[in-house]
Amino acid sequence: MSNVAQSSTYRVALIGCGRIAVKHVKAILRKKSGLSLCAVVDTNSDAFNKLLDGAGIKGKRAQRLLQNTPFYRDYAEMLEQEKPDITAVTVPSGLHYPICTAAVNAGSHVLLEKPMSMRASEAKSLYELSKKTGKKIAMGHIYRYFPIVGNLQRDVANGRFGKISHGSVIVRWGHDQAYYDSASWRGTWKSDGGALMNQSVHAIDLLCWLMNGDAISATAMLARRFHEMEAEDIACGSLTLDNGALCQVEGTTNSPSDDHEASFYLLGSEGSFRIGLRKGRPFFDIRIRGKKKNREYFMKELKEKGIRALLRLTNPHAGIYEDLREAIKENRQPIADAKSGWTSVENVLALYSSAKTGVRTELPLTSDVGSEEMSGFFPLQ
Ligand SMILES: NC(=O)c1ccc[n+]([C@@H]2O[C@H](COP(=O)([O-])OP(=O)(O)OC[C@H]3O[C@@H](n4cnc5c(N)ncnc54)[C@H](O)[C@@H]3O)[C@@H](O)[C@H]2O)c1
Repeated sequence: MSNVAQSSTYRVALIGCGRIAVKHVKAILRKKSGLSLCAVVDTNSDAFNKLLDGAGIKGKRAQRLLQNTPFYRDYAEMLEQEKPDITAVTVPSGLHYPICTAAVNAGSHVLLEKPMSMRASEAKSLYELSKKTGKKIAMGHIYRYFPIVGNLQRDVANGRFGKISHGSVIVRWGHDQAYYDSASWRGTWKSDGGALMNQSVHAIDLLCWLMNGDAISATAMLARRFHEMEAEDIACGSLTLDNGALCQVEGTTNSPSDDHEASFYLLGSEGSFRIGLRKGRPFFDIRIRGKKKNREYFMKELKEKGIRALLRLTNPHAGIYEDLREAIKENRQPIADAKSGWTSVENVLALYSSAKTGVRTELPLTSDVGSEEMSGFFPLQ
């Protein structure tokens, strides 16, 4: 039985024990997280064991968790038996829609990994379900939870950076062939997509959020240069926002796998910033009328959120859970809400459609599109 009403600890069930689940389990089991792990699901019965090992949880602590945490192979049975307060959905992307729908219908709030789904109609339906039921769907859009980003977003919206000319996002998130060979869903149009849908969807979300606009059209070119897989490993595209500003998008998995970069640039009439991560290290260059404002933003963040928030960079998922917990208590939307899940999927699908048709795609989409419709775009040799 859900114990939210009686206690301030939220019971979290984790569905999917793969790579990203490591970040989730670490965030859930953190001291004072206000969360407890009430159940774990995976189709592979050894997966929970491997997950704890991957998270560095060993010995007696691992044994205790394995003994005391109910493990299921069927998510529907788990939802029925455990009635979790929050369900973390960390399965392959093609399964996000049915599993998130089942979790919300079982009365659970959800932390859903990105991308929200592989079809526009499914993403819209999850947004509408969240609205109708009042259950929160927090997206795994990690970039929105990075330090300083929230204050930059507010200041752009308040006009501190003036009229926005344009922004750009670069995602150079290299993966070798072994990554794509490690699971049959990776790099497929139906269940994963390529560098845009997997590695860039949340970065595109951040850029549009920072620029305070919704995309109204998309153009893109895609290629598959270095990998054997169905989908693209390099994409160059652009989005026009409803406020007239332009966005440039580069997403690739062809870059070296030991040199990951996600960077964001915005230019306004009164200021600019270049922020991001490279090799796990954050960088900031924030200027108002030519004057550097890094220190001001850093101190503001420290004052508002404390050192813990700055250190959270090593596991932004801890920030997503913290915000979701507060969002449930305050009955407000999480920082990355269901709407951000829906619009970011639409933006990527519009970029895909434009690459396929060779013409600009208007947004919001007027007909249903899914990543699967890109099948055969690069015929495999
Ligand atoms: N937010 C981020 O920064 C971030 C980073 C990496 C991955 N992701 C997303 O997380 C999701 C998972 O990616 P991953 O790399 O961890 O994948 P993965 O293949 O490593 O793990 C997926 C796990 O789900 C399990 N699974 C499959 N079908 C299941 C089912 N029906 N019920 C229960 N478990 C099932 C698999 O056995 C596997 O253990 C993807 O959607 C991906 O886009 C997000």
